[in-house]
Amino acid sequence: MPDPTLRLALLYGSDRRQRFCDTIAAWAVAHAEAMGGWSIDRLDPATPEGRDGAALERKVREADAFLVVTPEYNHGYPAALKAMIDAVYIPWQAKPVAFISYGGLSRGLCAVEQLRQVFASLHAVPLRDGVSFAHARDQFAADGTLPGGHPAHKAMRLALWRLRWWAGALRQARLLIPYDAAA
Ligand SMILES: Cc1cc2nc3c(=O)[nH]c(=O)nc-3n(C[C@H](O)[C@H](O)[C@H](O)COP(=O)(O)O)c2cc1C
Repeated sequence: MPDPTLRLALLYGSDRRQRFCDTIAAWAVAHAEAMGGWSIDRLDPATPEGRDGAALERKVREADAFLVVTPEYNHGYPAALKAMIDAVYIPWQAKPVAFISYGGLSRGLCAVEQLRQVFASLHAVPLRDGVSFAHARDQFAADGTLPGGHPAHKAMRLALWRLRWWAGALRQARLLIPYDAAA
C-alpha cells in the first residue's frame, strides 16, 4: 500500500527582492495544509538550492505534483523560473502541474499559457484548474491574508483537489508501468 501522503513541490516564479510571490505562495501553502494529505517542498530560485541542479533534480524526482506560483513580466514568465525548469528533464514526466498566476490586468494568464506549452513538452500534465490574480497587491491585506469571501479561495480548493486527483492517479500509474517503458 503506497504512502497516502502526496508530495507537493511549490515552484516560486519570481526571484526579485521584495517579491509579492512570497505572499501568494504562503497563502497557497496555507490552503494545502488545510486540505491535508500533502507534504510540501519548495523550489525557489532566490535560494542557493533553487540554483543547484542536483538539489532541483532530487526535489522534482521526489515530487508527485507541482504548484507553480508565477508573476507575469512583459507577457511572459520569469527567466528564473525557466532556469529551474530547464535544470531537470526526466523527473517532470507523468506528474501534474497546477498554476497560480498574478500580475496586472492580464492576471499572469499569458505567462501560464506559455508554461502549459513548456510543461507539455516535458511530458508533465498541466491542469486546467488554477487561480489567477489581477493586481494581487490590492487584494491581499498587509498581513498577507485574503478576505474570506474572495473567489480565489474556492478556485484554490478546486485546483488542489484536482491536483491531488491527478497526483494520486499518476503515482499509481507510474508504479504500475514506467512512463518511458516504450522508449
Ligand atoms: C517590468 C514589468 C513588466 C510587467 N509586465 C506585466 C505583464 O506583462 N502582465 C502582467 O499581468 N503584469 C505585469 N507586470 C506586473 C507584475 O506581474 C507584478 O508587479 C508582480 O507583482 C510581480 O511579481 P513579484 O513581485 O513576485 O516579482 C509587470 C511588472 C514589471 C515591473
